[in-house]
Amino acid sequence: MTGSVETFQLSVEAAEVYEANFVPALFADWAPHLVEAAGVAPGQAVLDVACGTGVVARTAADRMGGQGRVVGLDLNQGMLTVAGRLRPDIEWRQGDAADLPFEPGSFDVVLCQAALMFFPDRAGSLREMARVARAGGTVAVQVWDRLEAQEGYGAMYDAFARHLGPEAAQLESAYWALGDLGLLGSLFEAAGLEVTATRTRVGTVRFPSATDAIATEIEATPLAERISEDTYDRLLAAATEAMRPFTVDGGRVELPLKGHLVTATRPA
Ligand SMILES: C[S@@+](CC[C@H](N)C(=O)[O-])C[C@H]1O[C@@H](n2cnc3c(N)ncnc32)[C@H](O)[C@@H]1O
Repeated sequence: MTGSVETFQLSVEAAEVYEANFVPALFADWAPHLVEAAGVAPGQAVLDVACGTGVVARTAADRMGGQGRVVGLDLNQGMLTVAGRLRPDIEWRQGDAADLPFEPGSFDVVLCQAALMFFPDRAGSLREMARVARAGGTVAVQVWDRLEAQEGYGAMYDAFARHLGPEAAQLESAYWALGDLGLLGSLFEAAGLEVTATRTRVGTVRFPSATDAIATEIEATPLAERISEDTYDRLLAAATEAMRPFTVDGGRVELPLKGHLVTATRPA
């Protein structure tokens, strides 16, 4: 990783773990809510910015029933390789959210889930989403709430903070960087977008066990390349303890995770 902002870059192996473990545990729970908030409908042109392995693009395409155009864009080729293997019927593009390779007004709907916090130029990236939306079109963004508002993840991330060094701190702080609704609203305003709805929702993150939870939080994120085996073991013990209140019958883990869904219009 270079620069001062965490951009969540993964190898193709980590992208496979992301899709197999992290998407069903966490991201798949949010995709239908984002697509619904944006009013995605058959016949539209829809862009999923920072699509990762493509859960939002797939959800939009399924809702559109094969009518219209869905494009997923991501900086990371590993993510796009997995996305393309799963859904060759969707258009996948490599690119930077801050410099979208599309003409102005190309899309009815622009979506972005769990990613705006990772962009080095957040304001510029939102301006780009506004530019490629048609006049009267929709930009809908999902981000996580502040760490202080996260009952379950707060405890787990305390364990991360205690056991991981600065190599992890940047990732940890990036996750929660856009939880403040005032800050988020001002980013939309600066991008020339009119916010039409803001919804805060508590989702449930589900892992088969505490061991699976930690394995996924590390192996499906940039941390995989940044920590030693010893650190992993210490973290596993501390995080398992922190997750105990959220461990239900048979050892399954169910963590509440709070996020915001912001829907906006590009004025005519
Ligand atoms: C936590 S993942 C979320 C992926 C997906 N939206 C989902 O819901 O599963 C964050 C994604 O942001 C992408 N990303 C980070 N910076 C980016 C940028 N400047 N332009 C495009 N994608 C970027 C990463 O490659 C990664 O796939």
